[in-house]
Amino acid sequence: MSDKVLVFYGSYRSDRMGVRLADYVVSGLAARGADAEMVDAKVVDLPMLDRMYKEYPKGAAPAPMEALAEKIRNADAFVFVTGEYNWGPQPGLKNLTDHFLEEWFWRPAAIASYSAGRFSGVRSGTVWHSILSEMGMVVISSSLAVGPIAQTLDASGSPIGSAGAALDRSFIRFADDLAWWTEAAREQRARKPPPY
Ligand SMILES: Cc1cc2nc3c(=O)[nH]c(=O)nc-3n(C[C@H](O)[C@H](O)[C@H](O)COP(=O)(O)O)c2cc1C
Repeated sequence: MSDKVLVFYGSYRSDRMGVRLADYVVSGLAARGADAEMVDAKVVDLPMLDRMYKEYPKGAAPAPMEALAEKIRNADAFVFVTGEYNWGPQPGLKNLTDHFLEEWFWRPAAIASYSAGRFSGVRSGTVWHSILSEMGMVVISSSLAVGPIAQTLDASGSPIGSAGAALDRSFIRFADDLAWWTEAAREQRARKPPPY
């Protein structure tokens, strides 16, 4: 059975760079046999949070929110590709995630951070760790940290130079770790329904 993995990315900038890492993660997981799909917050384009998904009467949520809720419920695992704006998470991705809560529960999540410089977005990645825990995901220990992103991945998301080669090496452990927890969580959900 293929792992269904949603890869979330949330920059709304016209000249955004992080989409390279999101593309890289989707292709890398797909090459390992996962059913990986990018969820691009800019494409989904939920409004600034007014009502959470669960605050709508059943069947009355806007169609893009309903479709995304269904996707999240059916996924086995999540990857959050996160840039860093002033040491914090990007608002587009945070806005998308805040629309949901129970839909995230009982699945593993992994964090792939990046930035234009050498700090690789790790300050934002650290904040995402606690955000994802609060939303009921189990955050795996392995992470990716990519920077400078322009010197690591080209416009099509392919690794370049020694930084790209280093990313390829760390991706193996990252994906192994995520796959192990994905299988463990799926089997446990099948064996014993989550307590709430
Ligand atoms: C509003 C803003 C704030 C930023 N703050 C940081 C920062 O705190 N740390 C950092 O390493 N890079 C920072 N950067 C540079 C980003 O790492 C870089 O622009 C990156 O490409 C942003 O991701 P995106 O292109 O996917 O939007 C900032 C960029 C913007 C636009």
